[in-house]
Amino acid sequence: MKTIIEPFKIKVVEPIKMTTRSQRGDILKQAGYNLFMVTAENIIIDLLTDSGTAAMSDEQWAGIMRGDESYAGARSFRRFYEKVNEITGYQHIIPTHQGRAAERILFGLLAKSGTYIPSNTHFDTTRANIEYSGGVAIDLVIPEGKDPQSLHPFKGNIDIEQLRDFIRKVDPENIPVCMLTVTNNSGGGQPVSMENIRETKDLLSRYNIPLFLDACRFAENAYFIKTREPGYADKTCQEIAREMFSLADGCTMSAKKDALVNIGGFLALNDEELAMKARNVLIVTEGFPTYGGLAGRDLEAITQGLDEVLHEDYLEYRIRTVEYMGEKLDQMGVPYLKPPGGHAIYLDAKTFAPHIPVHHFPGQAIACELYLEGGIRTCEIGSIMFGKIDPDTGEHVAPPLELVRLAFPRRVYTQSHFDYVLEVIAEVFQKRKKLRGYRFVYEAPMLRHFTARFEQI
Ligand code: F0G
Repeated sequence: MKTIIEPFKIKVVEPIKMTTRSQRGDILKQAGYNLFMVTAENIIIDLLTDSGTAAMSDEQWAGIMRGDESYAGARSFRRFYEKVNEITGYQHIIPTHQGRAAERILFGLLAKSGTYIPSNTHFDTTRANIEYSGGVAIDLVIPEGKDPQSLHPFKGNIDIEQLRDFIRKVDPENIPVCMLTVTNNSGGGQPVSMENIRETKDLLSRYNIPLFLDACRFAENAYFIKTREPGYADKTCQEIAREMFSLADGCTMSAKKDALVNIGGFLALNDEELAMKARNVLIVTEGFPTYGGLAGRDLEAITQGLDEVLHEDYLEYRIRTVEYMGEKLDQMGVPYLKPPGGHAIYLDAKTFAPHIPVHHFPGQAIACELYLEGGIRTCEIGSIMFGKIDPDTGEHVAPPLELVRLAFPRRVYTQSHFDYVLEVIAEVFQKRKKLRGYRFVYEAPMLRHFTARFEQI
């Protein structure tokens, strides 16, 4: 088989500033060994997130010029509505400035004290919005989804048995909605199968509980269904996406992922009464219903991006990139969460650096070294992000996994950038026994990973 090439040519470039190892040493020290505090110009390859970091196409930039900035009834909204409606089938489409704004509106209306919202795994902002509205967010991913070595093809699936037991336990009346995150970001970008979405819907229908998709990476999920689930090989990704959405009652969307734009989102649903309420909140917090939190030009870019993201040559290249990284890491014996997901590779820090105890943050040790060695920015997803101090014992309580996420911006880096990343990982892996842990010198009371400062042990 021939190399699967980037299915685009480069028309505009953004220069990368090169730095030396010793410059990066100073930069890292000044940033308190926190990569969130390093200015972006001092990063060579930025794999902090795949959110809002995509490169737009020529047609998307043309859309930026076509944007209709009328306050009400803009042409850009009509085009946006028609595209989202074509892909999802939903009747009510409410533009928001990003995904969490759609979550805030939905859960502000549905979640309150005494309610429970189950999911395969809630993303942080989804969980935070549920909790902020007084509800309880519950994660019920299948056991394989928690095992970093399991090769289950749909590790993002929700556990139907557990969901059934949970509904009976808390009473369906107290479950205003169930969510499925496609793909499951917090579980490693793992897909959910069509069969699992259908079984979830069948179960929920018996109790009159609506199902919503957290659809940020719906196109990547559709491609996994096409390539892994029996019966879907001959369907287009657009048909598969439409079928996924048809099994749910609505979705929240961060357009910063699979709409290939730098800002935007929406809430889409069929329930007219809920949509009316959502629009009323939208007017107070985001804007008039035909622009929400966005400019007309943003709506144009999203409309075009939603069209491009479903092109199969794009999705083949996209998923192949992550798979390619996985294959090379396998050859080098570098431990990572398997199988490779849709948007990122997650290094398994506990196996990578077993001599660093979890309360000295092995993920942070690897992330800092990847920066020092090659100017690569990644993100610790482990004890710094999710660890807690037990109030009774004062001991550190670690999350189940210590990971370092390498999230891949869409259409931004070429194969040689990825080969460079592999070379840097190989060097850090070779000297893994010399890596040292970190301790906090400053820690904020909430979301400490963003602003913390560290020192090396
Ligand atoms: N849901 C999922 C599954 C996400 O991954 C994100 C964002 C959101 C909702 C919120 O969307 O940022 O537009 O408000 N994930 C980014 C990430 C931040 O890096 O994984 P948003």
